[in-house]
Formats: sequence, structure tokens, C-alpha cells
Amino acid sequence: MPVLGTHATNDPVIGPSAGTGMAVALNVDLRAIEHAVCAHNMRNRFAGLYKARKCVDRAEFWGDIVTTIGADQQINVLEFGVRQGRSMRYWSEHFKNPDTRFVGFDSFIGLPEDWTENLKTGSFSTRGKAPDIDDPRISYEIGWFQNMLPGAIARRQQQLAGSPLFVHLDADLYSATLYVLGVLANHFDEYYVAFDQFHLDENRALADFMTAYPFRVQFLSYTADKAGRCLAFGRMKKIWFEPGR
Ligand SMILES: C[S@@+](CC[C@H](N)C(=O)[O-])C[C@H]1O[C@@H](n2cnc3c(N)ncnc32)[C@H](O)[C@@H]1O
Repeated sequence: MPVLGTHATNDPVIGPSAGTGMAVALNVDLRAIEHAVCAHNMRNRFAGLYKARKCVDRAEFWGDIVTTIGADQQINVLEFGVRQGRSMRYWSEHFKNPDTRFVGFDSFIGLPEDWTENLKTGSFSTRGKAPDIDDPRISYEIGWFQNMLPGAIARRQQQLAGSPLFVHLDADLYSATLYVLGVLANHFDEYYVAFDQFHLDENRALADFMTAYPFRVQFLSYTADKAGRCLAFGRMKKIWFEPGR
């Protein structure tokens, strides 16, 4: 019977149980699997990304988001993963409509779980402090998405109804991204969405979300660098569920 154990380098190992006399083992490098799954998604499921506008870097990519949605358009912006407010500051400076509202969601005590070898639980903590951005249109929801998102949306139902929605997903993690997409699906049939880490966990979260939820994504722009990092922007739309599609 296969067992999950640990070999000398601390990599997880799957192999036959002791005493069977069978050769050990299949080394499982989970990160390599993650990369392979995301690369597979990019080539197949998300191949439409490469037909979208390619931006040279993040600055052009963020600019493209604002131009596409419309700087003067009255919208709601929900940002998941705020940290010190670098992206929030950008959205608030560039989306100029006085009635536009920005809601930043974050624990502000960092990641709830290890993400990469270097970015462990608690990374990106601002010790509970939300950024002080001089814009009264911004407010924050502080806590774990998994605890507060449904309540926050219910409380803000009136504010969120009727205007176009832009969702910025920058929480890095598979768990956080998948959870947010699932909750939003119960409230919004159509919205703009941007992924800050579309080469990693956020990519797999979208793929798994779309396996279960009848949503389609139309990619509008992206940027990718030589190191393989990819940011993607598009439009999510609920569709009619049809088996086999
Ligand atoms: C990469 S940082 C965000 C960066 C930010 N958008 C910027 O432009 O600098 C990721 C953030 O996601 C938050 N985060 C991740 N998972 C979360 C969860 N489940 N609930 C609440 N916050 C979470 C972390 O606290 C962290 O501040």
C-alpha cells in the first residue's frame, strides 16, 4: 500500500510500505506539479489569453485596465489583498469618478498559510494596519476572507448593486482566490477581474472554480515577463450550465 513519508531531503515521498521489498519511491515536488498544471492550463483552458492585448509591463497593464473600464465610469472596486496599498493607491488615483467606491479586503496580518519556500505564514503583514490613503471613497474589510466576505457583501448590497464591478485578486494563494471566486459567484453574474499572479496558484484557482461553476472568462489583456510571471485581466460572465461543454 502506498505511504506518504519524508525522505532525507525532506521532500515528500510516495512509495511502497516498508517490508514489501519494492524499490522506493516517487519524489513528489509539489511546486513543480503546480507549475506543470498552470502551464497546462495556459496552453489549453486559458489559451485565449494569448489572443488578448499584450502589455509590456505592469504599468501598461494597469493602465490598460483603467482605459478599458473607463477612468470616469462610476464603478465598484473590490480588492482582495491590499497590504500597504500599492495597487489600491493606483486604482484610487486613476478611477476618478467621485461616486466610485473601493473596498479593500485583507487580514493585514499577512498570509494565513505558507505560500512559497520564502513566503511563509504571516508574510506581507502590516501588523493589522490598513494603509492610510487620502481618499474618502476607500474603505476596508479587515479579517480573513473566509470569515467575513459573505457578511461584508450582505452589508454592502445596496452599494454594490447596479454599477459595474472590478475585482482585483492579489491574495496570491489558491485557497483565498478560490474561496473569493466562489462567494462572488453567488452575487455577481458579470464583472471585470484582474489576477496578479496568473502563472501560479491564482491560475489553478480559476481553473478549478470554472470546473464547478458555470462561468466563462474572456481575457482582455495580460503581461508576462521572462521569468514566467503573468498578470491577466478579463471579464467573468455567468453562463447556462450544459453538461459536456
Ligand atoms: C501580495 S499581498 C497584496 C499586495 C497588494 N495588492 C499590493 O499592491 O501591494 C497579499 C495579501 O493578501 C492577504 N491575504 C491572503 N490570503 C488572505 C485571506 N484568506 N484573508 C485575508 N487576507 C488574505 C495577505 O494578508 C496579504 O496582505
